[in-house]
Parts: sequence; C-alpha cells; structure tokens
Amino acid sequence: MTPKKKSAYTVPKLKDFSAPALKKAADELLSALEAESEAVNSEAELKVFRDRWMARTNGLVTQINELWLKSAPKDEKRAAGQCVNELKIKVEQTVDATSERTLTGVHAKGKPVGRTKVRDSASPGRETEFTADRLDITLPGTRRPLGAEHPVIKTMNEIVRVFRNLGYSVEEGPEIETDYYNFEALNFPPNHPARDTQDTLFIANQESKPLRERLLLRTHTSPVQIRTMEKMKPPVRVVCPGKVHRNDAPDATHSPIFHQVEGLAVDTNITFCDLKGTLDHAMKALFGSSVKTRFYPSFFPFTEPSADVQISCIFCGGHGYRDGGPCRNCKASGWIELLGCGMVDPNVYGFVDYDPKKVSGFAFGMGVERIAILKYGVDDIQLFFNGDIRFLQQFV
Ligand code: PHE
Repeated sequence: MTPKKKSAYTVPKLKDFSAPALKKAADELLSALEAESEAVNSEAELKVFRDRWMARTNGLVTQINELWLKSAPKDEKRAAGQCVNELKIKVEQTVDATSERTLTGVHAKGKPVGRTKVRDSASPGRETEFTADRLDITLPGTRRPLGAEHPVIKTMNEIVRVFRNLGYSVEEGPEIETDYYNFEALNFPPNHPARDTQDTLFIANQESKPLRERLLLRTHTSPVQIRTMEKMKPPVRVVCPGKVHRNDAPDATHSPIFHQVEGLAVDTNITFCDLKGTLDHAMKALFGSSVKTRFYPSFFPFTEPSADVQISCIFCGGHGYRDGGPCRNCKASGWIELLGCGMVDPNVYGFVDYDPKKVSGFAFGMGVERIAILKYGVDDIQLFFNGDIRFLQQFV
C-alpha cells in the first residue's frame, strides 16, 4: 500500500464546544499553521499562504469565525469567542513573521533590537509585535559618574588664585630636571646632602655625563625660579605650581610624590617687609583673617636671610591647649610650621645674569598637601593618593 499523501488542513465543523474540545481543535489548527508557515520558501508561496489563512471571503480565519463562533450554542459562545480571537492573533503573527522571514531572510526571533520597521496599517496584528518588540527610549541610560577636582588640585588652585589676585602670573617647569636647575644654580654646594640618593631620585645610567647635566626628578619647584629668571627680566612676580619627588617611604606624613607652589618676586627695592606682608596676607586668605604669622630663622642655600613661616594654630586658636589638654596639632606650641621663604641669595642672580646691586627679591615655597591636610582636617597624607572614592567625594 502506498502511504496516503497528507491532505491539507480543513476547518472542521464542531459539535462539541466544551473547553477540551475547543482546545483540541485549536491545537490542530495551530500545528497546521506552523507546518504551513515553515514550508513557505518564496514570495509566491507566501502569497498563497497569506490568502489561504487571511483572505476575507473564505480564508481559514473567516471559516473558524463562521464554524466555531457563529454556530456555537448561546451558552458556549463566550468560550468559543475567546478561543477564536486568540487564534486570529496567532495566525496574524505567524503570517507576519513568515513574510518577514521570506522577504528579508531574517528570522523574526533573531532580529536586532531597535530595527526600524515599516508600519503596515493593513495588518492590525502587528500592533502586538510592535508592543513586544519596541525599543523603550524612555528607559534611563547608563549613568557615568562625573568626576570632580581632586582636593589637592583644588587646594593648589586656591593658593594660585590668592597670588593671581595680587598680580602674580603662573609659570611651570619640567618634572624631570637637571642637577644644574635643581641644585647648582640654586647655590647648593657640590656635596650638599640633598644631592644624595637617599633624598633624591636620580634617573639611572647618567654617570658618564657631567654632574650638572645629570637628570633627576625635581625635589622642589625652586628650579622654576631659575628657568623664569633666565627668560624674563625684572620685574618678576610668578607662582609655580607642580609635582615634586623625594626618596621618602610613604607614611601618614610622607609621600614620595607631592605638590608645591613656589613664589618669586624680583624688582628694585623689594625688602623682607614685602615678603612678610605678602605671606601674611596669603595665610589669612587661605586660613581666615584671624590667623597670625610668625617668621622663624631658617636656612636654604638659595635665600639669605631665610625663614620658616609659622601660622597660629588653627585648631587651638594659638593657645597651645584645647579641651582641657595640650593641643596635639601644634604640640602645645600654638604655632604650626607651614612654608619656607627668604630673600633671593645674590649668588643666585649670578647664574641668571641679573645684577644683584640693582635688584632684590624674595622667594617662598609651600607644600600643597600640608595645606590641604590642615584646611580639611585630614589625618593621613596617603588618603589623597589611594583613590578611595568615599574619601574624595567629601570634597565635591
Ligand atoms: N624649595 C624649598 C623646599 O622645598 C622651599 C623654599 C622655596 C624655600 C623658596 C625658600 C624659598 O623646601
């Protein structure tokens, strides 16, 4: 016996409209739909498929409407109506997916998200597909947190602003310096301990060069004084912010990399009085007008005389004691040491071709982290460099 060719699906008349009978009939229809959809391979076949199921006059959808809904007994109309409606939607979706696959070669399920579709108003079934598939442009996007100025940079800018307001301009210099700019032209004697590798980070394999040409990481911003005086004639008023490096092990008060702001003013008749007035004003601008300053004798090879500037302790108001005990911040002295300064040593003018008989000037240098630590009450310098967002967010 030759096997019977499977005949095409036809919509059966229903006698039984119970839920299981409806379900069985619906399942048969859906598997026929699925099988016929899969068999579609060309535009011509697609047209036949679409007409067979959707044609108004005698398509299968119209037939189930007639045979399953209209002929259902009154009591069972509701269930039959629901079943027929669901089937209509399924048929429309399948026909649409089949046409998409046939015309574009893309399987409906594998479509890229957000593809633009041409809306086909003749097929209301597409509404469902649009709703399920559309790209919701009202969903919030991925937020990228905005960065903010780092507290050290913020403090550095604040210091620079104080001096800009006094008429100073800003100069910068390289972080990799020569021995000449970092030490020699600043009047450091050849065997000064700062030149030792214990304090200074030298670039390796420079021994064949003359000492003054050897490269190192600058240990202070003072070499920018020399570079500035080489290219400018007096009057000079500059501040030089930047990064400096020292061969120090990191701990709560030391960091091998930190920042300084250098200052230099050279003109005729500049005196120690000008230096005192300028720094007293700057400290009041940074820490508040009630802060006092004190100049304490010190030594730097490139200034003469030299001084350390101390400010009255901002924690105990300069009393030296607080909360019934000695103030820990100023070690009960009432003063906090903050920066180095002095009158530019006449020997330095010799290196830059300034006439020490005609000009005079002052210089100062301050550590930015040290000032930030005091201003913000930070107890460990390492916090500035650890990159912990919880610490940094406090300064936004
Ligand atoms: N360069 C000195 C230091 O790093 C500070 C300083 C600058 C002192 C200018 C006097 C004048 O300690």
